[in-house]
Amino acid sequence: MSTSCVQAFELRAGVVVCEINRPDALNALNTEVLHELLRQVESVKCNDSASVVILRSVGDKAFVAGADIKEMLNYSTDQAFRFSSLGQSVFSALSDLPQVVIAQVQGFALGGGLELALAADFIIASQKAKFGLPEVGLGLIPGFGGTQRLVKRLGFAKALEWMTSAERYSAEVAYQLGLLNRVLEHEQLSTGVEALAQTIAAQGPRAVRAAKRAARAAESSHGQLGFEFEAQLFSSCFAGAEAREGLSAFVEKRKPEFRSIER
Ligand code: CAA
Repeated sequence: MSTSCVQAFELRAGVVVCEINRPDALNALNTEVLHELLRQVESVKCNDSASVVILRSVGDKAFVAGADIKEMLNYSTDQAFRFSSLGQSVFSALSDLPQVVIAQVQGFALGGGLELALAADFIIASQKAKFGLPEVGLGLIPGFGGTQRLVKRLGFAKALEWMTSAERYSAEVAYQLGLLNRVLEHEQLSTGVEALAQTIAAQGPRAVRAAKRAARAAESSHGQLGFEFEAQLFSSCFAGAEAREGLSAFVEKRKPEFRSIER
């Protein structure tokens, strides 16, 4: 497979698109796609001018239909462990990006596809999207971090129901359960996601990154530690020109000019 199975490009100032391009296999994640995704994530991480990453895929039918079943068919337990560890590390690298990551889900997000969307900061889906964890129907369990992330997102009982029933859920149900931030009409999905990305990219870039770090810390720490980290990040916003620009712009009744500030 050529390196074009995952591409990253700048859509507009502050917004990068990371796109999986394997529509013939419904964007199923094989080892090559995972390695390429990691390569693109690592390059996006160094993009200091980006505030938002839109994670999306090519084709109308599926965001990602899961890990590649054909590749896994004859896996030994060692190979399966390595595959799971690879997927977990790629998805963690995605979650840990300093930018806000939006998963744009246009169709099936099943198994590893749902796990990938869960590794984003939030998910925006088409009304046509379908979600589920069919792994138990294959005699497997989710192996790319989904058992952990779905419990955090839906709570233990709902997550376990999803994991053990292998049922598929509509975007409407997923939205009601809090899995999705927004559900948009299918034809409006790209423009809706891009408009939100642009709104985020127009804010103070350092502040957006600090907000993400603080919010992520809320997931892994509790109580005082989280508050202390928040206070550190809050005060660090005052170290650069960005807060000066934002605060002065308000006082001077003008729009802030964040993008021209050197970082
Ligand atoms: N792996 C490999 N190939 C896949 C695939 C997958 N996960 N999902 C779809 N494909 C391939 C199909 O084999 C088919 O290829 P061919 O044309 O060469 O036969 C092509 O994509 C189109 O798929 P379908 O013909 O099946 O399309 P459909 O519209 O009839 O059905 C679907 C769509 C319901 C998504 C169905 O493809 C499907 O159920 N896919 C598998 C979903 C799944 O079980 N995902 C979990 C995988 S396990 C996992 O993810 C483990 C983990 O956590 C690490």
